Amino acid sequence: MAEEAILGYLEHNDEIKDSGEFAEEREIEHNEIVNVIKSLHGFRYVDAEDIKRESWVLTDEGKTYAEAGSPEVQLFLAIPEEGIPKDELQKKVGPSLFKIACAQAAKNKWLDMGKQRISRKVQHVDDKVKDLLLQIRQGQVIGSDDIKALKARKLIVPQTWKGYSVKKGPNYAPKRKQVVTDLTRDNFQSGEWKELEFKEYNYSAKGQPLEGGHLHPLLKVRSQLKQIFLCMGFEEMPTNNFVESSFWNFDALFQPQQHPARDSHDTFFLETPSTTNILPEDYVQRVKQVHESGGYGSRGYAYDWKREEANKNLLRTHTTAVSSRMLYQLAKKPFSPKKYFSIDRVFRNEAVDRTHLAEFHQIEGLVCDRGLTLCDLIGVLHDFFSRMGMTKLKFKPAYNPYTEPSMEIFSYHEGFKKWVEVGNSGMFRPEMLQPMGLPEDVQVIAWGLSLERPTMILYGIDNIRDLFGHKVDLGLMKKNPICRLGIE
Ligand code: PHE
Repeated sequence: MAEEAILGYLEHNDEIKDSGEFAEEREIEHNEIVNVIKSLHGFRYVDAEDIKRESWVLTDEGKTYAEAGSPEVQLFLAIPEEGIPKDELQKKVGPSLFKIACAQAAKNKWLDMGKQRISRKVQHVDDKVKDLLLQIRQGQVIGSDDIKALKARKLIVPQTWKGYSVKKGPNYAPKRKQVVTDLTRDNFQSGEWKELEFKEYNYSAKGQPLEGGHLHPLLKVRSQLKQIFLCMGFEEMPTNNFVESSFWNFDALFQPQQHPARDSHDTFFLETPSTTNILPEDYVQRVKQVHESGGYGSRGYAYDWKREEANKNLLRTHTTAVSSRMLYQLAKKPFSPKKYFSIDRVFRNEAVDRTHLAEFHQIEGLVCDRGLTLCDLIGVLHDFFSRMGMTKLKFKPAYNPYTEPSMEIFSYHEGFKKWVEVGNSGMFRPEMLQPMGLPEDVQVIAWGLSLERPTMILYGIDNIRDLFGHKVDLGLMKKNPICRLGIE
């Protein structure tokens, strides 16, 4: 109806000056007229120009007075000819209306306000406020002093009215042509297709989002890290055993059996099978010996090494367990230099919070060659981390049972404007390498870091539980872009 009205009117007239008046005259909702104008404008049937008007509307309080009369008049009418005791009047009209009304009536000098009694001073009053409110409600224009007074009493508030003036557009027609979007079998059979007008293609419309699979941010960052290692000539180590014996996880790494990390507070031990029964016996003997009494230039830890402790199965607490197995394998063959890496899951019996999970991922790299020094380690770390976008590094002496020297790695974070710890590193001790059977002059430099840390920084995630675990935010998985390492 609105569309016919607009197009029909424009057939014989140049312009609809004001959509508001147009709507009112035809008793059509202005909203409906506006929607039709927008749609006709979209197809260029009409040209439309905005018009804005400041108008006033009644507040809830204003509305009640427009119906029941202003409080001052209500009060006036409640006073009988002979006057009335103040408290009685207050009871009659209610305390809140009484208060507002008294103030206004006093201003108007309508009443005699004795201490005890109130009586009329004049015979008759006009309810100007009510009249003004009714005029405003009808859209009439009233004087600016009256507006000011009503506004001050919070009976009216300003409102911007928006509408259009409308003229014929370049595609004007008295009736909208029905454009079709699909050509059907019926169109062909009826011969209608010859006359039909088709909707134009909108080449800039966005396509439907594809609902395919979504890679988890950890997987994206992991594949980039893999790429970095491969570019640097590293081979990937097999990390497919989450269950490991204490032997490979701790003992082979010269970690004494009383070491606190072995405590069940930090390590998940397995109930079934609780122990391993295959360990390389001759190597086990050499490990026992180096723990108890040393060798290879070491004094050892001087304690009773227990086989039962080494047999205990656990969920590996670091991927260095994988490195120890690999180095042992390497030592069995004639020596050749190797660069190995791994990225996989590890488990620690930790209290879960914003930055800690009981299972997370470690990235580990190691280089095994003759005559390596701490300088080689520092050089490789600079190379590796700069490929991740971390160019400013600092090293701090640290302690690991299996490395000497050991260094914590800090990187300057340009966003946080501070140094953040990004990893741990060191040179594997002879007490670890020699019992394996690696030649004496072979050194191994190694480092490790978590995968979660750089991923959280790259994706701006501050709660690790949004990233991994049963509380993971699936929306985040779907929306997240590919973040490229090396680009902050
Ligand atoms: N395994 C160490 C950790 O869990 C990391 C590390 C790897 C340290 C290799 C030194 C050498 O934190």
